[in-house]
Amino acid sequence: MTATRVCAFSDLEQDTAMRVEVNGVPIAVVRDSNDEVHAIGDTCTHGDISLSEGFVEGDTLECWAHGSAFSLTTGKPLTLPAFEPVPVYAVEIDGDDVLIDINVKKEN
Ligand code: FES
Repeated sequence: MTATRVCAFSDLEQDTAMRVEVNGVPIAVVRDSNDEVHAIGDTCTHGDISLSEGFVEGDTLECWAHGSAFSLTTGKPLTLPAFEPVPVYAVEIDGDDVLIDINVKKEN
């Protein structure tokens, strides 16, 4: 399986999440303040809320509905009420292209 181009690096604003889909899988892509790009499952594990509509705080993405903050590196919620992690996908940067392979998950 190969990685899929989801956007240009230059499309991503720092500390902002963008929702993309790869083969129907919703993913929140985040460029952090160190210009590292992360890809985590976009659906909050507490409710059917798009995490990319939430807030990037340091190395977390916070759900706007009830405030669970998910680690961008492990996918684990660091605050309640969510307690199940979201998946974390491998990201590859190739020039200005951001590529995600939904079949390659990082270790939680
Ligand atoms: S729906 Fe995300 S914390 Fe409740």
